[in-house]
Amino acid sequence: MRQRYYIGDIGDYDGQEVTLEGWLAGRRSSGKILFLQVRDGTGFIQCVVGRGDVDDEIFEELSALPMESSLRVTGCVAADSRAPGGFEVSIVGAEVVSAAALEYPITRKEHGVPFLMDHRHLWIRSSRQFAILRIRTTAIRAAKNYFDSRGYVQLDTPILTPTACEGTTTLFETNYFEESAYLSQSGQLYNEATAMAFGKVYCLGPAFRAEKSKTRRHLIEFWQIEPEVAFADLDDIMDIQEELVAEMVATVLSERGPELAILERDIDALERVKAPFPRITYSEAVELLNKAGHSFEWGGDFGAEDETVLSREFDRPAMVTRYPRAVKPFYMENDPDDDRVTLSVDMLAPEGYGEIVGGGQRMMDATELEARMREDGVPIDDYQWYLDTRRYGAVPHGGFGLGIERVVTWICGIPHIRESIPFPRMLNRMRP
Ligand code: 4AD
Ligand code: MG
Repeated sequence: MRQRYYIGDIGDYDGQEVTLEGWLAGRRSSGKILFLQVRDGTGFIQCVVGRGDVDDEIFEELSALPMESSLRVTGCVAADSRAPGGFEVSIVGAEVVSAAALEYPITRKEHGVPFLMDHRHLWIRSSRQFAILRIRTTAIRAAKNYFDSRGYVQLDTPILTPTACEGTTTLFETNYFEESAYLSQSGQLYNEATAMAFGKVYCLGPAFRAEKSKTRRHLIEFWQIEPEVAFADLDDIMDIQEELVAEMVATVLSERGPELAILERDIDALERVKAPFPRITYSEAVELLNKAGHSFEWGGDFGAEDETVLSREFDRPAMVTRYPRAVKPFYMENDPDDDRVTLSVDMLAPEGYGEIVGGGQRMMDATELEARMREDGVPIDDYQWYLDTRRYGAVPHGGFGLGIERVVTWICGIPHIRESIPFPRMLNRMRP
């Protein structure tokens, strides 16, 4: 294979001549010198070229080259403390691969969000989006690595399903030949079956919610990583959540420092994300809300506002347990000490971000589970396979779903979830 050089590894080539292949992201000129900002998907670097360093013809071409044209530049790498990123390239040769045909629509001036969202396919080239989406990929890898290194089996679950998992109000319906099918809201029910076969499992995939919520934390299509563990109770599930989230944050801190710097993220806030995380019950959370002057009646579900208030009470993620049965799906196990509540747990991210993880211990008893499903109007015939997980060797078990974009939004410290996924699907947006 030919030798390739990437901006992300530029420190390895200090003092050497390299050829970089990328796009023109910015340009300044001071008389006879051009400062080109080049990006290649692994980073951004300043390349300097003086008139006379290269053929006049290419110098003129570079002076007028439209933004986001593609090019190859060859030059010597030198450490420079003034350069963003710490290195600079002194160009001795350059070649334009494809000059942009038109003026690039995204300029240095402020653009409105609708304009940027319409140009999402180009917006993802900019440094802020580069930082967010690189952090996303690291966070996903850290989560997968957490499970892979602990003996979990990755068994991905179907997207096209005949039934609901998280209630029928947010289902996307589609056709499966002659039948109706629904886009998966969660892999959980299938995870429960694979956990009975493989002990510790997880799935990673998209989830769909036809939710008419237009908030800064809702997507219509989002990604979830969902573990499920046999012979596990609520405390075990909380330990896993805590360790997983702490490890995701630690990995981003150690590997994505430059990206966090681009986002001007408060690093101290992320460094506090270490076990143990506070654990409180739903009832305690209700008290906390009322004490904070945010009146809330026991029994209701926390809305985004309530979670924001709660999550400001803590300096790291907090786990809220034992929600009332009425606000949680049919599969939640009862709390043996208080029949009003369930063995459920949500993790709320600090700094006002709110819920990032939802899960708990699953109802084990087949008869009671079936009764709950009937109460909830769940079509029992379609769920016989699910009830079999209880009929043949039921065990205490549990799991959770971690919303990738919710976690990325919080780790990046950005105000809206729309930037945490390459092409967001939102209430009023399915394009590009
Ligand atoms: O709390 P949820 O609805 O739980 C479940 O789906 C369970 N069946 C998961 C399980 O136990 N295996 O969703 C889990 C997480 C939430 O905590 C949140 O992080 C994310 O998925 N999430 C969303 N993210 C973006 N947009 C939405 N509309 C989301 N809905 C849930
Ligand atoms: Mg939830």
